This record gives sequence, C-alpha cells and structure tokens, in this order.
Amino acid sequence: MSNSISPPKLIFCGFLVFFFCSFASITPTAATDHIVGANKGWNPGVNYTVWANNHTFYVNDLISFRYVKTQYNVFEVNQSGYDNCTTEGALGNWSSGKDFILLNKAKMYFFICGNGQCYNGMKVSVVVHPLPPPPSAAAAAHTPSSNSAVPVFLHKGLVGLKVLVVAVVSIWLGWL
Ligand SMILES: *[C@@H]1O[C@H](CO)[C@@H](O)[C@H](O)[C@H]1NC(C)=O
Ligand SMILES: *[C@@H]1O[C@H](CO)[C@@H](O)[C@H](O)[C@H]1NC(C)=O
Ligand SMILES: *[C@@H]1O[C@H](CO)[C@@H](O)[C@H](O)[C@H]1NC(C)=O
Ligand SMILES: *[C@@H]1O[C@H](CO)[C@@H](O)[C@H](O)[C@H]1NC(C)=O
Ligand SMILES: *[C@@H]1O[C@H](CO)[C@@H](O)[C@H](O)[C@H]1NC(C)=O
Repeated sequence: MSNSISPPKLIFCGFLVFFFCSFASITPTAATDHIVGANKGWNPGVNYTVWANNHTFYVNDLISFRYVKTQYNVFEVNQSGYDNCTTEGALGNWSSGKDFILLNKAKMYFFICGNGQCYNGMKVSVVVHPLPPPPSAAAAAHTPSSNSAVPVFLHKGLVGLKVLVVAVVSIWLGWL
C-alpha cells in the first residue's frame, strides 16, 4: 500500500476532473453551418419557418443553401422583399447551387428564391443572436432582449470560478 494514492487525493482528483468536464461543456462552441431544409435542401413546398424554428443562430454561424443551380437561386432581401417576394434592392445574391453565407451580424436575415418560387415557399427568415450563451441561459436567449451583457458577465464569472477552484484544489492536494 506504500506506493498507492491516498483516498482523499483520489477524491480530489475526481472532483477536479468533474469540474473540468462540466466547465468544458459550457465553453462557446465553434460556428455552426445550418443547412437550409436539412436533407430537403432549398426547394419549393418546404415550410422553412418550421426548419428555422428548430435552429438557433449565432453571429459567425453559416447558413448554407443546396439546390439545383439551373433552377433556383438565393437573394438576401429586407422584410418587404420577404413579405412580397420581391428582389428589388436585394442585399446579395447567390447561384452556385451550394452557397455558404456568413451570418456576421446580430439581426434578422431574410432570404428568398428570386425566380418566382418564393411564392411556393422558397423563403426563409432567421434571427441571429449576439453570443452563444451557456445552456442554462439558452431559454433567455429567445426573449426579445438583444442585450449581450448577461451572457458575457456569466461567462467571465464562470472562468473566474474555474481558476479559483483549480487554485484551491492544487493547494489542498499539495498539503495532503
Ligand atoms: C409553416 O409553419 C408555420 C408554423 O407551423 C405556420 O405558422 C405557417 O402558416 C406555415 N406556412 C405555410 C406556408 O404553410
Ligand atoms: C430538429 O433538429 C434536430 C437536430 O438539428 C433534428 O434531429 C430533428 O429531427 C429536427 N426536428 C424537426 C421537427 O425538424
Ligand atoms: C411589401 O410588404 C410590406 C410589409 O412588409 C408592405 O408594407 C409593402 O407595402 C409591400 N409592398 C412593397 C412594394 O414593398
Ligand atoms: C426594403 O428595400 C426596398 C428597396 O430598397 C425599400 O424600398 C424598402 O423600404 C425596404 N423595406 C424595409 C422594411 O427596409
Ligand atoms: C447580384 O449581385 C451582384 C454583386 O454581387 C450584382 O452585381 C448583381 O446586379 C446582382 N444581381 C441581381 C439580379 O440583383
């Protein structure tokens, strides 16, 4: 038994691992590519409101459109363009058949198909949120407030707590 680790040390090592694992899960994740319509792609007759409601978009995520490029295209428009299926004054247009669009602003984006298929459902609007909040605050991110101060504060608080826990546990382990 002389070379075995003492039970208190084992408990604290387990405690340390547990804390690292729980904090790792709340760190901001990498940008996501949201494939419009998932395996249905960008086609007529799909309800993209249902698709968008099942996704949460953050700044620097990508939205990607996959379609037959000889048939369809993508225009970024404003709310009037989205409501009326018009591309006048469009903010951008894409037609490669596999378009990746960076959502680099926290705002509402509107995309439509510019060849008339907008009337057959080829339109999608997405709300892009400012910051990836920790999962416990995910519900709060759906409120109309666009104030990012709370998630930033929480995140900084948790980083501080992690440093404190590591410091305390290291000192404790050193004394055993
Ligand atoms: C798409 O689904 C939403 C939510 O269920 C519904 O409100 C909307 O009317 C639907 N749109 C079409 C064009 O069916
Ligand atoms: C919502 O998205 C998840 C994963 O992104 C998927 O597994 C699920 O089938 C989707 N649900 C609907 C109703 O589209
Ligand atoms: C388009 O829809 C908007 C509502 O979003 C409406 O106010 C506007 O009059 C419509 N027509 C045009 C040509 O923009
Ligand atoms: C959308 O853009 C059109 C054309 O540039 C403009 O006339 C319209 O006022 C804009 N609508 C909104 C809601 O910004
Ligand atoms: C598409 O975008 C390009 C710039 O990227 C612009 O020159 C062109 O006029 C746009 N086309 C339409 C149909 O709006």
